Amino acid sequence: MTTLLQFPADFLFGCATAAFQIEGSPSADGKGKSIWDTFSHTRGKIHNGENADTACDTYRNPERDIILLDELSLNAYRFSIAWSRVVPEGRGRVNHKGLDYYSHLVDMLLERKITPFITLFHWDTPQALQELCGGFAGRDMPSYFADYGEIVVKTLGDRVKYWITLNEPWEHAFFGHFTGEHAPGVHNPWAYFKVAHHELLGHGKAVESIRAVAPDVKVGITLSQFPIYPYSETPLHQDAARFADLFMNRFYLDGLYRGQYPEALFKRLWPFRPKVEPGDMDIISRPFDFLGVNYYTRQYARHVWYVPFFQAWVDRDPPPGISHPELGPQAYPEGMRELNKRYREEYDNPVVYITENGAEIEDVVENGEIHDWGRQRYIELYLVELAQAIADGSDVRGYFIWTLMDNFEWSSGFSKRMGLVYVNHQNQERIIKDSGHWVAGLVRAQSSISHL
Ligand code: FCB
Repeated sequence: MTTLLQFPADFLFGCATAAFQIEGSPSADGKGKSIWDTFSHTRGKIHNGENADTACDTYRNPERDIILLDELSLNAYRFSIAWSRVVPEGRGRVNHKGLDYYSHLVDMLLERKITPFITLFHWDTPQALQELCGGFAGRDMPSYFADYGEIVVKTLGDRVKYWITLNEPWEHAFFGHFTGEHAPGVHNPWAYFKVAHHELLGHGKAVESIRAVAPDVKVGITLSQFPIYPYSETPLHQDAARFADLFMNRFYLDGLYRGQYPEALFKRLWPFRPKVEPGDMDIISRPFDFLGVNYYTRQYARHVWYVPFFQAWVDRDPPPGISHPELGPQAYPEGMRELNKRYREEYDNPVVYITENGAEIEDVVENGEIHDWGRQRYIELYLVELAQAIADGSDVRGYFIWTLMDNFEWSSGFSKRMGLVYVNHQNQERIIKDSGHWVAGLVRAQSSISHL
């Protein structure tokens, strides 16, 4: 069964990727090391001891991936730039070979009428800056980031009209600096808030430095977003859900759109309040052009005593008895509509792009084909809710599937497959999955509907 989906005529359908997860070639053509190069070569950090030295081998053969985008009929592509390819030490000397690589990529996309969306920072801090100032834990980092943004946009801004400053600042701050599951592997709640604040400051400074060199481009930021539900309707769990929402969602939304962090958050977390200097919040809340939203699933919050100060724990797994009838326990397509309602009602209805959404499935190759019906249905049901959000009045202008092809899924290594295209990690062979063929048909059908 397929539901008829219809989106506005100029709606963008794309796929998203990130440099570290696909490019490989960690030191080619003068690239500097990033914290993920270091982390992925640290014992015990990545599933099965894997690393991303080859990944999808995209750096050596970018055209192979671009042809796939074309075969999938997509009209947009979100990818990220590896900061240390362009500025190997993170500041100072520019590596023109790195810039040329991305410039060539952009030209290949434009030749095929695919709109590029570039993320400037998808977690791969240059190792040199980690050593110099602790990466985003350092107060100088926002300025280094704005300078790097300016260098890139100066070269590509004539052709690339959509720029995302940061990808998921919450994840980089939390998994990288609180739990230590991601690079740089720091485990310190004070570092978490420093990083979160400096990331937002970096975003604000980059908005300014980008506009200075390319006033006509659109600049946004991508946040991970979670509808948060109490594990059960008891006052303590309800309170934990409100608190988790402040921590995971509102800190970022309120900082960016209201120029203030939620006071209620620091009532409980008073020892961790980051140092906010005069003027910081004005920089952070400078107007920007769009909100990028990465949405996969909701979270359930529980009150717990054993996490000091936080007293809350969140989990993607719902309480027993709750599950999506077709997609399984963690899926929650309705979240698309709920989140957009929030942006409409509480944040002045910004322009939104869904910059990531997708499903992890244990794909099997059968006679050279991958029948990933579950992924297709997942995308379809999330799109139904997204179309509904637009009908409700939200200004959503595009949707990017995570991801183009199976790639290096951070600390899970190659164990998770999320692509529309299957990748044999032994020989780099690619096979378009059934979901990919279905997406291609959906996008082609949209263009015929809109030409009626
Ligand atoms: C997001 C990341 C992306 C990918 C997906 C599955 O949090 O932005 O790189 O790992 O999750």
